[in-house]
Amino acid sequence: MTLARAASIEDLRLSARRRLPRAVFEFVEGGAGGEATLRANCADFAAWRLWPRVAIDVSHRSQAAEILGRTARMPLILAPTGLAGLLWHRGEIAAAQAALAAGVPFCLSTNSVASIEEVAAAVPEADLWFQLYILKDRGLTRALVERAREAGYRVLCVTLDLAVQGRRDRDIRNGFTVPLRAHPALLLDLALSPAWLWQVGRRPVRFGNFAAHRTGGAMSVAQHVATLFDPRADWDDIAALRQAWPGPFVVKGLVHPEDARRAVAIGADAVIVSNHGGRQLDEAPSAISALPGIIAAIEGRVEVILDGGVRRGTDIAKALALGASACMVGRAFLYGLAAAGGPGVTHALTILRDELDTALALAGVPQAQSLGRAHLVSTDRVRTEPSSTGR
Ligand SMILES: Cc1cc2nc3c(=O)[nH]c(=O)nc-3n(C[C@H](O)[C@H](O)[C@H](O)COP(=O)(O)O)c2cc1C
Repeated sequence: MTLARAASIEDLRLSARRRLPRAVFEFVEGGAGGEATLRANCADFAAWRLWPRVAIDVSHRSQAAEILGRTARMPLILAPTGLAGLLWHRGEIAAAQAALAAGVPFCLSTNSVASIEEVAAAVPEADLWFQLYILKDRGLTRALVERAREAGYRVLCVTLDLAVQGRRDRDIRNGFTVPLRAHPALLLDLALSPAWLWQVGRRPVRFGNFAAHRTGGAMSVAQHVATLFDPRADWDDIAALRQAWPGPFVVKGLVHPEDARRAVAIGADAVIVSNHGGRQLDEAPSAISALPGIIAAIEGRVEVILDGGVRRGTDIAKALALGASACMVGRAFLYGLAAAGGPGVTHALTILRDELDTALALAGVPQAQSLGRAHLVSTDRVRTEPSSTGR
């Protein structure tokens, strides 16, 4: 399928699956354990329906959103995703360029292939966020934060739901390592993906931000995490990072209202309701189901960003109607990146923008920021409504 004919994020997913070696596609696609949370992240949007109003002037529509003091053209942020450069050569840079063109922020992962400095040098005008994992080596943690500040990243995003890495069955089954370690099944896999092999696979892929610190050979991502990341990190560490960072500070990976309150108490400017795209604690609540409880706990004191399961513009509309100020997308943009590089990310963002635009027009809500609970009806109510009216 040509890019122009990809009508949905699902179409891009199918293109990505055709182009990537299976082990790489499954690294992106997969979740932890039995993948219950991964599935629920998408499925639980169906608990709500959009409740349209008609005969409203919707000739002028806007999706503009204030996200941490800056206006984005859409209520969307590209989520931090490790190893995006394994999907497309210089993948992080291609994605940041697409984010800039679409007028939305781009969040670089600690585990990126392109380094903090490479991305900032290539796309200095982008609204760049840096996602941090707290490392056992606190000197190295501080050095990453300092590098991000010096390179001009505006927002620091600390991810808290990766004390250890979730058990990802697909990666274990595929023997997925960085760099990829050759074994017979992988070699067959690579032979079936010549376009990827030529574009990405002929160069070694590594964790760019650790280039100066890591030696040793191929290891699984779980081993990388166990070696470097600190399972002892607690709210005191997070409060210290908050103090050290001069700009907007956000925490990612909460689904419990009490944790959201703690985040506000240490001075976070936003919380990102997220279970890491179902890749960490399987059986954790879906992001969209956790959102209302966190919105209630926060009481409007800071921004709330919904992250997980967004595949449609209508998903964004539902999250905003529940009180989120914006959504993050991970796989939705990675499918586009894997399918066609930067233009693929642009296409993914265009699909989401056009779907949201149509939803706003047809729901009778010209401004995305005006979405509220009045525009939602719970699926339970949809089912019971006819009998409750006596018909
Ligand atoms: C391939 C991949 C790599 C990821 N790497 C990171 C990461 O390095 N840091 C992080 O905070 N989240 C990471 N995430 C989680 C995303 O930031 C985000 O929470 C998740 O993708 C949201 O779910 P969605 O894919 O359904 O949009 C990763 C997700 C994927 C799919």
